[in-house]
Amino acid sequence: MATAPKRYLVTSALPYANGLKHIGHLAGAYIPADIYVRYLRAQKRDVVFVCGSDEHGTAIPIQAMKEGTTPQAIIDKYHQAMKEDFNDLHISFDIYHRTSDPLHHETSREFFTYLNDRGELETKETEQFYDESSQTFLADRYIKGTCPHCKSDRAFGDQCETCGTALSPDELINPVSTISGSAPIKKKTTHWYLPLAKHEAFLRDWILEEHKQDWRPTVVGQCKSWIEGGLQSRAVTRDLDWGVKVPLQEADGKVLYVWFDAPIGYISATRQWAKDTGNDWKPYWYDTDTQLVHFIGKDNIVFHCIIFPVMLKLHGNVLPVNVPANEFLNLEGDKMSTSRNWKLDMRDFITDFVKKENGGDQCVDMLRYYLTQIAPESKDSEFTWKGFQDAVNNELVSIFGNYVNRTFVLMHKLCQGKVPKFHAAKSDALDAQLEKDIQATREKISACLEQYSFREGLFEVIDLARKGNKYMQEKEPWIVAKSLTEHPEKQELIDNCLHHCLQLTANLAILIQPFLPSTSRKMCHMMKVVDKMLDWENAGSMKLLSVGYSLREPQLLFRKIEDVEIADQITKLKHASMNDASTPQPTAEPAHAPLKPEIVIDDFSKIDLRTGIVLSAQKVPKADKLLQLEVDLGFEKRTILSGIALHFQPEEVVGKQVVVVANLAPRKMRGIDSQGMILMAEDASGKLHFVQPSSPINGGSTVS
Ligand code: 2FM
Ligand code: ZN
Repeated sequence: MATAPKRYLVTSALPYANGLKHIGHLAGAYIPADIYVRYLRAQKRDVVFVCGSDEHGTAIPIQAMKEGTTPQAIIDKYHQAMKEDFNDLHISFDIYHRTSDPLHHETSREFFTYLNDRGELETKETEQFYDESSQTFLADRYIKGTCPHCKSDRAFGDQCETCGTALSPDELINPVSTISGSAPIKKKTTHWYLPLAKHEAFLRDWILEEHKQDWRPTVVGQCKSWIEGGLQSRAVTRDLDWGVKVPLQEADGKVLYVWFDAPIGYISATRQWAKDTGNDWKPYWYDTDTQLVHFIGKDNIVFHCIIFPVMLKLHGNVLPVNVPANEFLNLEGDKMSTSRNWKLDMRDFITDFVKKENGGDQCVDMLRYYLTQIAPESKDSEFTWKGFQDAVNNELVSIFGNYVNRTFVLMHKLCQGKVPKFHAAKSDALDAQLEKDIQATREKISACLEQYSFREGLFEVIDLARKGNKYMQEKEPWIVAKSLTEHPEKQELIDNCLHHCLQLTANLAILIQPFLPSTSRKMCHMMKVVDKMLDWENAGSMKLLSVGYSLREPQLLFRKIEDVEIADQITKLKHASMNDASTPQPTAEPAHAPLKPEIVIDDFSKIDLRTGIVLSAQKVPKADKLLQLEVDLGFEKRTILSGIALHFQPEEVVGKQVVVVANLAPRKMRGIDSQGMILMAEDASGKLHFVQPSSPINGGSTVS
């Protein structure tokens, strides 16, 4: 038998600290990693499980702008929230670190310097978009414009929010800075690049040869198309003031690209864990007998399979032995989306189920169960509330919970609450078959988990419980009990059946433990056994519970999910998605919109506000929200597109006095040039009102 690897380092993708995470994230990178780690720990293997918040990149300052606060406040809020949510769902990280930590900055800078000093990075001067009024280079996400493909005006320099196409800022029609609203210019800037093409041979050998069999086909497939599409040099620095400063004098005002520093976060987290626990972190990253496994979602494949491994190789670190990336989890027939509010946040599940009742732990396990059962391991899969209800009621309750409960009830009723003896002389073929099934299951599940097939592993556990139910059904000890007065010797048959059923229950507690840890703990409590019994190597034994040992009364392991609960959730989902979710509002909402950062009078005086009168109005084809208005400013007439169509009929607005931002750069939307913006006020219910002079006034009058 091959010897077990010396140590494991298991990582889950560091989530961005810009909002709460949903169950798609949970199913993709956290639950499978947690199952794997708990399985390794049950074998007493040396394993460290690291994660933490990804607190850099443009996502953070953008969220800060949306919430009217600082990037620091954003990361503090979401780091804490995500840490709590993972904890509430029993994801057992050894450390949940954060990339704003000084140790991470130090680790990332050291990494960059190591590569740069050895000539592994190259510099290049390019032209990039620059916002003159705020004197900043614009990261892709800070540039907005019209999508060249679908012509939506919700397109950014990296991606169109409407059609999803990946874009580069140069492709945008009429690009504008989201900071100032003005059209950006092009300006020269120098950046550091990782020349991936130099490492093509290594990547081909390592992924397309060495790992072509043992990595998931979806992962190898994505890597193959990247490699074959031609590997481009990747910039590892950015002009931004939020992130890890580039440790070079000539790079003032530049930070490391978030995708350069984030995976290094796995190393800093390991260092922090070692510091906290008095261990040495280095073997985990430098000794070749470490098994490094990255759990991620499919959108992170290129970073974990191509870019980070090249960085690790150059830096002299171990490479991952596997990157079991999951595909995506859809929700009730549609893609999960934060911007459309079509999602189920971990926090919502925790609030609505886990924290709502005593024994909320069973709800944690119900969710872990369903998300593992539908894990998108080889293709996208779908969460439905009906599916959740069926999985809980028809499998967890009816098969697993029911089996354990019947065993305990019958043991109390027919065997005085004690583990009965097994009378070998009375053993039959059914007993032998059950023993065989129990013995075979551990290896089956191990094989699944070693290959990161969590769905199948879980299926095997439930299948064993199903076999237990069948065994009990065939043996019918409750019927045998009826003939005991006439045939007292038949007690031995009852004993044999319940002895085996109880040994199977103990086995199930071991085998379910990595998947549903709270359930396993509850079972241990009922059996009055200590954690030691849960060692993986004990599974398969028929001697886990000693004869004559008295056990507790059963507790129900799972409750049913009622129709009304799922109906409520579906209503809630539909309701949330109907509200405009372009601004995600994940936590308690303030009663008023937060104030934007302070400005000076000069900032305000740049805005030229004029009065006007709406001459005509019409709907814009294929744009639900837009009205096309003809506005008379006195000195000229303007065409202005305004996002008010869901609030006003065209005829309601004709003749209205309005206030117009008259010096706003024209913007093309739906192929129409919009030459200004109408000021509107929004009340607490979301209703819009025109901002108007209190009495009629000539068009073109200034407003200040
Ligand atoms: O996609 C994301 O949410 C990234 N924050 C994942 C980073 S994983 C690792 F590199 F840190
Ligand atoms: Zn588009």
